[in-house]
Amino acid sequence: MSKEVIKEEIHLEHSSLRYPLPEGLLKELAMELPSINEYPGGGEYRLLRTELARYTGTSCGSVLPANGSDEIIEAVTRAFGKKLILIPVPTFSQYEVSADRNGFAKKLVNSLKGCNYQLDYTADDLKKASLVWICNPNNPTGNVIPRKDIIKVLHLTSGIVAVDECNYEYAGETVVDLLGQYPHLVICRSFSKNFGLAGLRLGFALSSLKNIHEIAGYLQVFRVNKMAETAGIKVLKYLDYFQEIWQEIALVRENFVSGLRDLGVKTFTSRTNFVLADFITEENTRRVCQYLQSENIFSCPSWGEECTGLEKHYLRFTIGTNKEMNLVLELLAGILK
Ligand SMILES: Cc1ncc(COP(=O)(O)O)c(C=O)c1O
Repeated sequence: MSKEVIKEEIHLEHSSLRYPLPEGLLKELAMELPSINEYPGGGEYRLLRTELARYTGTSCGSVLPANGSDEIIEAVTRAFGKKLILIPVPTFSQYEVSADRNGFAKKLVNSLKGCNYQLDYTADDLKKASLVWICNPNNPTGNVIPRKDIIKVLHLTSGIVAVDECNYEYAGETVVDLLGQYPHLVICRSFSKNFGLAGLRLGFALSSLKNIHEIAGYLQVFRVNKMAETAGIKVLKYLDYFQEIWQEIALVRENFVSGLRDLGVKTFTSRTNFVLADFITEENTRRVCQYLQSENIFSCPSWGEECTGLEKHYLRFTIGTNKEMNLVLELLAGILK
């Protein structure tokens, strides 16, 4: 009797970490379960904020944890976006979604020239803006925004400059050291993409005491649940483990990119755990996406909800294991020939 072979689904559509969490951390979290009858955050999440301040080289008062960085994006929008919000596209969708949800004026500024993503705000736009978004590294292109370009924006606007560093750990470039110098700088970070805690929902903002107070006004008192609070505190002890994974992902990513190049597929230079690949036409991209899906491999298509302002001939792949990415390359070789 022939048995049906059920192929395992490979989910490369979300940019969450696709590597296992450390056993020790899972045990520590399991031990925390009996105390979920208690509220989290005693004393304003002081312990979590202290750990985050230590990790980022800031102070406790500059740190505001929340229910994922999506919630930080929403609160920052509500706190500072009332006049005009500038969004460099293509980029992560939630800056626009939050602007629209609150009925705030927005301007989407095309920042893509060929395969080159570069901030392109005019001095006039920057003068009028109350909130300017910069996603660094950018989702979905994966490239790093040069520090000098961020500084230029900081000089040309008196509005809040919100730098989303949710993928910081992969690229290792940050403007945290500029916080003291620029009181209108806000940084967003996340535990979803790098520390594998996407399901628990934990992100945080870094800024001046004044801005943190303002943003916190749009959040609930118990803004981080007890398990996420514990995980955030404990996970930082496993930094070595995660650093090894981030390095491995970079290697797998470069192999994958070079495999795509061999197949004639153009990609953006990524410093993250995902790669944006160009399949030239929407029709071809849909064909590739559907074929991969029929083989139980899920990619993030440019016509989905993840990004704003992306033409419909791209697929974004989160980097999984080498074996998974080689399977993607093998299937692509079959369908692209
Ligand atoms: C650039 C960027 N910012 C923020 C987020 C939201 O992350 P979180 O899971 O912390 O809400 C994402 C998630 O995809 C993202 O890509």
